[in-house]
Amino acid sequence: MKARVFSGVQPTGNLHIGNYLGALSNWVKIQHSYESIFCIVDLHAVTVYQKPEELRAKILEIAALFLAAGIDPKHSSIIVQSSVPAHSELAWMLTCVTPMGWLQRMTQFKAKSAAQETVGDGLFQYPVLMAADILLYHAAIVPVGDDQSQHLELTRDIAQRFNSLYGETFVVPETKLPGFGARVMGLDDPTAKMSKSSAGAGHAIALLDTPEKIRKTFNRATTDSNPAVDFATMGPGVENLLGIYQAFSGTADAAMREKFTGMRYGDLKKQVAEMVIMHLEPLQQRYREITADPGYLEGVLREGAARVTPIANDTVELVKRRMGLYTAR
Ligand code: TYM
Repeated sequence: MKARVFSGVQPTGNLHIGNYLGALSNWVKIQHSYESIFCIVDLHAVTVYQKPEELRAKILEIAALFLAAGIDPKHSSIIVQSSVPAHSELAWMLTCVTPMGWLQRMTQFKAKSAAQETVGDGLFQYPVLMAADILLYHAAIVPVGDDQSQHLELTRDIAQRFNSLYGETFVVPETKLPGFGARVMGLDDPTAKMSKSSAGAGHAIALLDTPEKIRKTFNRATTDSNPAVDFATMGPGVENLLGIYQAFSGTADAAMREKFTGMRYGDLKKQVAEMVIMHLEPLQQRYREITADPGYLEGVLREGAARVTPIANDTVELVKRRMGLYTAR
């Protein structure tokens, strides 16, 4: 039996090239080597208030983007988290074995809660639900961007703690970071990671941005006071632009140096923009085709949920038995 892969995306904001390079494009590359489950984590999204009608639309948009990026629904299951109730059930059971101190250390919680007037308990529990997503399917591999590494470490800790309290139950998953593009930075501020929730124009390249918008955003990207590319002294803005080019094109380090050393920033930005557009245009074309048939999309999600639900329910049964909770079976 093939090892299982699980990963997810929150249906909030606009999916951007950081999400694509950090996660989606790698899912596409590895999906056939594993039994793959890719999830739209709507229960995570509501840890911060979302307008209901917008959330509903976003879920379908993200599902369509998974398909447009090249996830093969015949092989890989695409699911919406809330359509498989076992995610929430397991999350509660894991909450009970997770020390609060572990959650208090989460840097994403600290950053996200600082931005909220009222911090919902769900935001605190967020990483436990994420652990449940992964452990529910005994996933061995979790391909994510670098910003999820701490959550993955916590998932491993929770799995190990459960196993030591109740006996071997969960697979302890491995984090799989991409070679390039594990941390794409904001184009307006290359010291902050590119993020869906940063609304500022000039911050991100969304997967559905038009070529004109992509050119304009790259053109405004922050660089440094050098006039042209110098690999020895470049600042984080230039490094980020080169990193984006390298991740999309797969160019080797030596070839990158040869191509870009001494190139003026205006030309660098054009080269990066055209490379990104070349990759996003076919994705956008597929997106338009997929969204023209909403019935198809709903079918993919229904089929995904039907395929994974028995696996998820078996794990919940197993965990209940291990913990001494009542099971009729
Ligand atoms: P989310 O929705 O913030 O991001 C989705 C994926 O994109 C990656 N990513 C990035 N990679 C490179 N550069 C960036 N600037 C960048 N920004 C985001 C993220 O690392 C992620 O892989 N908590 C998760 C969703 C989740 C999940 C899971 C992931 C819920 N359950 C189980 C894996 C397994 C999140 O908020 O991702």
